[in-house]
Amino acid sequence: MIILVVATDQHQLIGTSKTSNGIPWHVKEDFMHFRSLTMGKTIVMGENTFKAIGKPLPHRKTIVCSQNHFVYDHENVEVREDLFQLIEEYKAKKEDLYICGGATIYRLALPYVDKMYISRIPGDYEGDTYFPDFSMMNFHLESQEDRGTFTLEIYTRG
Ligand SMILES: NC(=O)c1ccc[n+]([C@@H]2O[C@H](COP(=O)([O-])OP(=O)(O)OC[C@H]3O[C@@H](n4cnc5c(N)ncnc54)[C@H](OP(=O)(O)O)[C@@H]3O)[C@@H](O)[C@H]2O)c1
Repeated sequence: MIILVVATDQHQLIGTSKTSNGIPWHVKEDFMHFRSLTMGKTIVMGENTFKAIGKPLPHRKTIVCSQNHFVYDHENVEVREDLFQLIEEYKAKKEDLYICGGATIYRLALPYVDKMYISRIPGDYEGDTYFPDFSMMNFHLESQEDRGTFTLEIYTRG
């Protein structure tokens, strides 16, 4: 399954150039949610997001999408130039692939995504990067759960 994981504020904001990790807020519970959801899994992110995080996340295989001949030598990191080919590979072998941003990778991957975990962070933050509009993409809200400091929405396709 192709699974997308994202956190947004109330205006679909996802990123900023003003914090060291690129995330406009610090919500510990959402980081913990992301950690437990992706632990032991294969995660894919764009080069900008990977550089903002600064290092591979432990206990996960990280695939970095870059068309810029980016090189990163680490046993749990793979760099790929073609996101679409990667998605096709994971669909064919029926292995879960977690799409973890940023905006470019979300936008390109959305047509292939089966399930989305969207953390809604209450409030209105400053930033420059937004989650794409998916209202016309045939997702339906399967569940909505109050997690205290954020609301977790789960969407499936169809
Ligand atoms: N709130 C959240 O949940 C969340 C999660 C993740 C990231 N973010 C935020 O999102 C922002 C970064 O987003 P971004 O859009 O700037 O960058 P990005 O999506 O992280 O990375 C874009 C990279 O993807 C490459 N790329 C483009 N098309 C590709 C393809 N078809 N196959 C393989 N690679 C391809 C680009 O290469 P070229 O430039 O060479 O084309 C570029 O290096 C940051 O602010 C980050 O903090 C937020």
